[in-house]
Amino acid sequence: MRCILMNKNVEVLVAEYDTATSVFTKIYDIKNIDYAPYILKSFYVKNDINDTPFRTNLSEWFKGRGIPSWRDKLDLLLYRLNITAPYELLDKAFGLSLSDQYWLKPDGSNISYDDINFFDNDFDYAEFMEASLSTNGGLITKEASLKTPNNTTDGMLKKAWIIDNGIRYLLKGGYKNETIQPFNEVLASEICKRLGFDHVEYTIDTYKDMVVSKCPCFITKDTEFITCNQIKYDMERHNSIKDYEEYIKKLEDNGIENAREKIENMYILDYIIMNEDRHLNNFGIIRDVNTLKWIDVAPIFDNGQSLNIEYYDEEELHISGNGRLFYEIKPFDEIIKVVKDLKRIDISKLDGIVEWFDDLLHEYQDLTKMSDRRIERLCILLNSQINKLKKLNYL
Ligand SMILES: Nc1ncnc2c1ncn2[C@@H]1O[C@H](COP(=O)(O)OP(=O)(O)OP(=O)(O)O)[C@@H](O)[C@H]1O
Ligand SMILES: [Mg+2]
Repeated sequence: MRCILMNKNVEVLVAEYDTATSVFTKIYDIKNIDYAPYILKSFYVKNDINDTPFRTNLSEWFKGRGIPSWRDKLDLLLYRLNITAPYELLDKAFGLSLSDQYWLKPDGSNISYDDINFFDNDFDYAEFMEASLSTNGGLITKEASLKTPNNTTDGMLKKAWIIDNGIRYLLKGGYKNETIQPFNEVLASEICKRLGFDHVEYTIDTYKDMVVSKCPCFITKDTEFITCNQIKYDMERHNSIKDYEEYIKKLEDNGIENAREKIENMYILDYIIMNEDRHLNNFGIIRDVNTLKWIDVAPIFDNGQSLNIEYYDEEELHISGNGRLFYEIKPFDEIIKVVKDLKRIDISKLDGIVEWFDDLLHEYQDLTKMSDRRIERLCILLNSQINKLKKLNYL
C-alpha cells in the first residue's frame, strides 16, 4: 500500500507499506522530516533514505507501536481477537494512538485527521475490554472492535482504553493473578497529590470481578508523548549519573522549565514506593505536535510495579530493594542521592498515608483476597520508606 505517514495534518513521508509483514519496503519521498517521530530523526541522512537504517528503523518504530510480545496473556488475547500477531492490528485504524498523533494515510485518499482521530471520534471498546481484561471473556465478533487505540498501546499489563462521559481512560489490570498494581498506582497518585508532584491521577475501578486502575489520557490532540528512550537513543551511554545529567540538560536546552525538579520528584516517589520499573519508556516529555515545542516533562505515570511486588514472601519481609536509574539497576538508597535538595519536600504531608493505604487495601479485600498479613507487610514497607526519607531529610 502506498501511503503517507502523517503527524496530525502534516505529511512526513511517502512510503510503500506491506500490510502482510508490517514493513515499509520503500520510501518514495520525505516531505517534512522535522515532524517525523523523534527517534527517526537521528537515522535520517538526506538523499539516502532507502539504503540507510532510516527505512528499517521506520518499520521498527511502526511495529513498536503495537501490543508488545511480552504483554501478559498475549496468546489468549490474540485468540480472542482472531489474529496471529499484534502487528496485524496496526493498520486496522490507520495506526492511530492516544499517546501521539501519527497515522498512515493511504495515498490518494481524502481521509482527514479530524474524521478519524480517537480524541474526537468515539470508538467501540466493549469487546476489546472484555477480551483483554476478563478471565472468561468472549471472542471479538465485530470488526469495529478492532478499530480502537488499543491496537497501539504499549506495556506488559493487560489494559484497555475506554470512554466514560466523553473522557478517554486507560484501564490496567494486575500481572497474572497479582492484584497489587492498581493499588500501587492509586497510592502513587495520593503521594504525588500531597507532595505537589505533576502526575497522572489513578483511581480504583472494577471490571467484572477484577480490580483495575483507571487513569485519564494525558495527551491531547495537540500533543505527543516522547519517551526518554527515544530522546536518549542517539546519545552515548555512560554511567547512570552522567546519563541522568545529560538527559536533564537536553530537556533544559529544549526549553523545559524546572526539568530537574520534576525528574527528581519522580525518583522521590520511586523511593517512597520502591518502584522497580522506571525504565526509559515509563517517563519522558510532552511535545506540541503543531509547533514541535517541548512543552513539559510528562506527568508521572506507571507506578504499579512497587512495594516489593516481585519479592513478596509470607515468611520474610524484604525491606530493601533496587530501582532503575537510566540503564542501571541500583539500590533505592543510591538512586535517591540524585536529589540535590530533599528539604524542599514537606514530608509531613504524608502523615497518615499509611493508615489511608491500609484502609484502601482492606476496602477491596473481598475482591482481591489479599491476606491481612500481606496488607500489614505492604504498610510496614511503606512506613519504613517514609521514615527513611524523613531521616535523609534531616541530614
Ligand atoms: N494516561 C495515559 N495517557 C496517554 N498515554 C498513556 C497513558 N498511560 C499510559 N500511556 C501509554 O501507554 C503505554 C503503556 O502504559 P503503561 O506504561 O502504564 O503500561 P504497563 O503495562 O504498566 O507498562 P510496563 O510494560 O512499563 O509495565 C505507556 O508507555 C504510554 O505510552
Ligand atoms: Mg509502562
